[in-house]
Amino acid sequence: MRETVETWLKKSVKKLKDAEIASAQLDAELILAYVLGVERTFLHANPQKKLSKTLVFHANNFLNKRIKRVPLAYIFRKKDFFGRTFFVNENVLVPRPETETLIEITQKMLQPNDVALDIGTGSGIIPVTLKAEYGEKVEVFASDISLQALAVANLNAKKLLNQKIPLFESNLLEKIPSDILSKITIVTANLPYVNRDWVDFEKNNELHHEPQIALYARKNGLELIFELLFQAQDLPKLRKIVLEADPCQFEEIEKYANNCGFLKSKSENYTIVLDKK
Ligand SMILES: C[S@@+](CC[C@H](N)C(=O)[O-])C[C@H]1O[C@@H](n2cnc3c(N)ncnc32)[C@H](O)[C@@H]1O
Repeated sequence: MRETVETWLKKSVKKLKDAEIASAQLDAELILAYVLGVERTFLHANPQKKLSKTLVFHANNFLNKRIKRVPLAYIFRKKDFFGRTFFVNENVLVPRPETETLIEITQKMLQPNDVALDIGTGSGIIPVTLKAEYGEKVEVFASDISLQALAVANLNAKKLLNQKIPLFESNLLEKIPSDILSKITIVTANLPYVNRDWVDFEKNNELHHEPQIALYARKNGLELIFELLFQAQDLPKLRKIVLEADPCQFEEIEKYANNCGFLKSKSENYTIVLDKK
């Protein structure tokens, strides 16, 4: 007997619940709607719609990935951020909603002729969004230590801006050309700041599907942030560094930043702003 929307959903929600996935109903509906190419409301309006074998095959394939806790963003190869849909794959961190605060704060303090450099750009959400929102007013550059991540950022810049963003493969500021560094006024960075001790590696977790290099940093998660602050103190035109970190790390960041010639001017949600003294 051919499956219907209703029978597929019922069976799949149960499987997801058995796998202890809290958003079981929503995830099953999102998967089926994606495979059918419809909105979720269509499923509610058409519970008796019969599903073809091919469609059920694809839906089951996605379902099995979800049961293994693969994030939906990787399954669908996309994630919404600040009103735009970004391409994502397993080489980049899944963009988080908390990073939207970093964008809002950065936007508010941008001045004409600012030159922004995003370090650890991943899928490119920060430079692409700043450029898309601010257009010609801001010049943006971005870098990442991962070439695979830069390929994704490049794709998103082309798709969402219809232009390229200059991208550099670099460990923090190390390999960024000095003529670029000399004009940077704003540095943004959502670098890895998760302390491995915060995560239960015994438990199946969505984090295990994301690149380790995008998540974890030594020294209580602060190693890369501290190293960036150390390197950035020599940038001649720098006005501000806007960082994402866990709020429990802000006090230590502020202290370290002080010694590198920066003063905390603001913190909100997961974003902290440091002004050059
Ligand atoms: C937390 S992810 C953030 C990605 C993106 N900015 C976002 O907000 O979704 C951190 C990124 O930093 C990059 N990264 C890790 N170590 C780095 C380093 N030493 N220098 C530059 N980038 C680094 C990772 O490859 C990853 O893309």
